[in-house]
Amino acid sequence: MNKFSIAMLFLGLGLVITLPAPSSAQTQACNGLTFSSNQVFSSCNDLPRLSSYLYWNYHATNQTADIAFRKTPTSTSNWVAWALNPSGQRMAGSQALVAYQQSNGTMIAYTAPVSASPTMQPGSLSFGVSNLRAEYSNGEMIIFATLQLDNTLLSTNQVWQEGPLSGGSPSIHPTSGDNMQSVGTVDFATGTVTSTGGGISSRARRRNVHGLLNGVGWGVLMPIGAITARYLKVFKAADPAWYYLHISCQVIAYALGVAGWGTGLKLGSDSPGIKYSKHRNIGIALFSMATLQVCALLAKPKPDNKYRIYWKFYHHSIGYAIIVLSIVNIFEGFDVLNGQNNWKKAYIGIIIALGAIALILETFTWLIVVRREKSETTNKHLNGTNGVNGYATTAHA
Ligand SMILES: *[C@@H]1O[C@H](CO)[C@@H](O)[C@H](O)[C@H]1NC(C)=O
Ligand SMILES: *[C@@H]1O[C@H](CO)[C@@H](O)[C@H](O)[C@H]1NC(C)=O
Repeated sequence: MNKFSIAMLFLGLGLVITLPAPSSAQTQACNGLTFSSNQVFSSCNDLPRLSSYLYWNYHATNQTADIAFRKTPTSTSNWVAWALNPSGQRMAGSQALVAYQQSNGTMIAYTAPVSASPTMQPGSLSFGVSNLRAEYSNGEMIIFATLQLDNTLLSTNQVWQEGPLSGGSPSIHPTSGDNMQSVGTVDFATGTVTSTGGGISSRARRRNVHGLLNGVGWGVLMPIGAITARYLKVFKAADPAWYYLHISCQVIAYALGVAGWGTGLKLGSDSPGIKYSKHRNIGIALFSMATLQVCALLAKPKPDNKYRIYWKFYHHSIGYAIIVLSIVNIFEGFDVLNGQNNWKKAYIGIIIALGAIALILETFTWLIVVRREKSETTNKHLNGTNGVNGYATTAHA
């Protein structure tokens, strides 16, 4: 095989690696949610703390906003609240909507002006509120309301909160961590939300980092590493280069994968109410299998060892199983994201490209092997190579 063909192969692989990544820096997890009431909201934002989301439709003609505040995860032993506070980014002065489940199982939602001594007694707010109701299902609490805004309230501060119930009524929320930082601004007309910390929610950011690390590590580099091993091996000129390429690919993939796995565990432990057990279990299985694969390198028999063939069988089975499971789990991950279709589309594109490259290389390899075998038969096995599907007898095969 000549150098030109090998260069073309690398070019092909390079093309796959540089496929355009999704450019949405501010992916919002709130997009694409269908509410039980079939209500559709044109604006939504991931609030930066307490894994909460705000959805709304703003009607400029009468300055009203239909809103939904969604807290996930939560439980029926908690109350949730969302408020506008034109007086500042703090609790005191908040014009709050409060909801919780009563002991007989019905949800209650009411308005409460919150003073410096937070009792959350029902009372009317400084602006009109109608259609107020709340629902609880699947560990999520949602408050729906229509707000009568005015010019001062169009772009103002918002505060949201969660706390425990005690004796069937709201008691004080935790006074540390995220519960003290759940403030920001909201602009109903332009649809922008900020937090005092600025930028998008740290949780959404960590989720994106988790997805990117795992997608690139498990979902792209590992298949490329397998393609390298399977198809470059057949070219005598690429020996032992293919081996080092394969190893480098898988080492980087493993490093990214383990980092991504770690961020996943952290995300999981930070949201105790939510359990994506399938995604999590496949992730744990993947990590174990990949680690086994790395350890097995140490136990790799020498090329002339009679157990070498079993080791290779093991190595290939686990390797392909990892790739299949990785792809399955990446799609499980997309499901968790609730319809962030840009990432999903981009990844489907990458998978199709990788599959097409593998298919072309597979055909190509067989042509070469068949042709080589023919010429080797006529040459009476002069160079003694047994090239069936690329499993040449090299030191690294
Ligand atoms: C405000 O306007 C919207 C859309 O024009 C309408 O659907 C809604 O009923 C109005 N709300 C009130 C309180 O008039
Ligand atoms: C549940 O309790 C509340 C308050 O005591 C009451 O207003 C409501 O009607 C009750 N709901 C049902 C279904 O019994």
